Amino acid sequence: MDHTGALDALLHEERVFRPLPQIVIEANVTPQNLQAAQAKADTDALAYWEDAAHELDWFKKWDRVLDDSDAPFYKWFPGAKCNIVYNALDRHIETGNKNKLALIWEGEPGDQRKYTYYELYRAVNRFANALRSLGIGRGDHVVLYMPLLPETVISMLAVAKIGAVHSMVHGGYSAKVLRERISDVQARLVITADGFYRNGKIVNLKNVVDEALTSASTECVETCVVAHRVTVDVEMHEPRDLWYDDLVRRERPEAPTEVMNADDPLFVLYTSGTSGTPKGIVHSHGGYMVGVNRTMSWVFDIKPTDIFWCTADAGWITGHSYVIYGPLVTGTTTVMYEGSSLYPQADRLWDVVDRYGVTILYTAPTLIRMLMRYGPQYPKRKDLSTLRLLGTVGEPCNPEAWVWLYKYIGRSECPIMDTWWQTETGMLMISPLPISLLKPGSVNKPLPGIAADIVDAQGNAVPAGTTGYLILRRPWPGMMRDVLGDSARLRSDYWERIPGGVYFAGDLARRDQDGYIWIEGRADDVMNIAGHRIGTVDVENALTSHRFVSEAAVIPVPDKIKGEVAKAFVILTPGWEDHFENLDELLKALRLHVQNEIGPVAELRAIEPRKTLPRTPSGKIMRRILRAEELGLNPAEVTTLLPDD
Ligand code: WT7
Repeated sequence: MDHTGALDALLHEERVFRPLPQIVIEANVTPQNLQAAQAKADTDALAYWEDAAHELDWFKKWDRVLDDSDAPFYKWFPGAKCNIVYNALDRHIETGNKNKLALIWEGEPGDQRKYTYYELYRAVNRFANALRSLGIGRGDHVVLYMPLLPETVISMLAVAKIGAVHSMVHGGYSAKVLRERISDVQARLVITADGFYRNGKIVNLKNVVDEALTSASTECVETCVVAHRVTVDVEMHEPRDLWYDDLVRRERPEAPTEVMNADDPLFVLYTSGTSGTPKGIVHSHGGYMVGVNRTMSWVFDIKPTDIFWCTADAGWITGHSYVIYGPLVTGTTTVMYEGSSLYPQADRLWDVVDRYGVTILYTAPTLIRMLMRYGPQYPKRKDLSTLRLLGTVGEPCNPEAWVWLYKYIGRSECPIMDTWWQTETGMLMISPLPISLLKPGSVNKPLPGIAADIVDAQGNAVPAGTTGYLILRRPWPGMMRDVLGDSARLRSDYWERIPGGVYFAGDLARRDQDGYIWIEGRADDVMNIAGHRIGTVDVENALTSHRFVSEAAVIPVPDKIKGEVAKAFVILTPGWEDHFENLDELLKALRLHVQNEIGPVAELRAIEPRKTLPRTPSGKIMRRILRAEELGLNPAEVTTLLPDD
């Protein structure tokens, strides 16, 4: 078993943290509720989820809770009619939430914008009308390439409101990736911004879109809407490009909400796997809204006065579920901050918490590890007394970072929810509740209704203390509905990897004697760089697309802050000497090439030229051997591979 230094420490962690009595008394889910819910979920999981569905508004209720006749293409709430945007906005206008703050947005330079539910509702309606006037409607695909702006929230909700499907591409991906996504979903519309602020500088986004739209594969795009954020020269290509502000100016603030089937697609989000191109994970309106609503109110314990801040970018699933949809569906106030956590200095997060009175902060271990290095004097300067609950996601939270967060941010009073889930699961799956006993580094136990287990390659549950594959035995409402354009991969990559018709998550994990789950990293060839999933294959393909790389193998190597970063081994194509002054120059060019192919998200620590790469008899590169060498381990100790690898 290989692991990072952080994970090493994790194996020896034995402390247990108890919630304060006040938290247990006031929690939405008390120990009694939890016991009853668990009992119900264990005897009749569908009845449990049906209760959860009753908390939302539907245009028409379901015929059945689950249709499993075409498993693993499970259909939740068949026969039901709904729209998640009705639940995120429309219904709040009829209630006491109408004038409550829905969104607090802060730009990096310090500018602010706030929207009540009513104001957000009207802004979404205006843009929904604009989209309809552009001919966009039910089932059309819209790509968003946007920073964290109010217009990003408005765009997503407006697209969903009219029954179209959004697909967000994170700003850290290159023009090439953006082009592939646009062409894969056959987007008719792209929404972007002129740019955004990061570390005191302007980052231009529109020029990346322009570059993406130069190819024949993106001819599907009829319109590009540009939100105005920064002062920068933007080339507007007529008649394709339109300013967001011009478009909404004359639109009415009322718009009908499209009546969708519960399993109609809501959005597509791409994520990397072991092989092939990244998969377009499809989520739908009904089950997804039930999943995010239940987890928001149970795990994040949402109360009417909360100010909820999830620091994720809207371009990841965490942003979709817990910056935008989850908070709005539960009628809470969501905070969004545009820029860097180090700007103008390392107290920006704490400053935002202080000024807006944030009560719940959901963030990533990689960010905690980075801010820890600046020392506790930064949080100490700010008033963090409004915080009552903390959360982390994306990668194992090493006990050192956990305890720092607990002590310096949470005053040793706020429980930390270390939440395990994935793009594919749509919603939190394994996580403590505010009332749980906490062990730093553990993701605690499966939430009620979630049948997680740890098994060997044959699907047999492994005993406590033994590492195995993390699987899910039963479907859950927030689950992916499909892989866009490649349904076969839903079976092959997830439901047919382990015998027994179970969902293979791709992670290694173990349970301790108390039944607590500890995630030990990926079981496949996927890296987790600063909490982001990057396929080793994707980086390898980027490298081999360079004329002077004939073969490449990429492995994750431990990094103190990012958890993992990539290291590449390459076999060079003869003749490069005629084009580059020396090896360093070539390696620099290769790095740049990877940046252009994928984008800054794929952080490369080093590129090492080799004469040969270790291979199986059938010719597959054995990354396992390279990892063992790199980490100074015996190859037998590196269990990363599945039986058929
Ligand atoms: C992978 C999913 C959905 C959250 C953002 C990432 C890893 C996620 C944890 C955690 C240890 C975690 C897993 C998982 N992961 N949360 N709390 N502890 N590992 O979403 O990009 O789909 O990645 O992130 O390896 O499979 P994603």
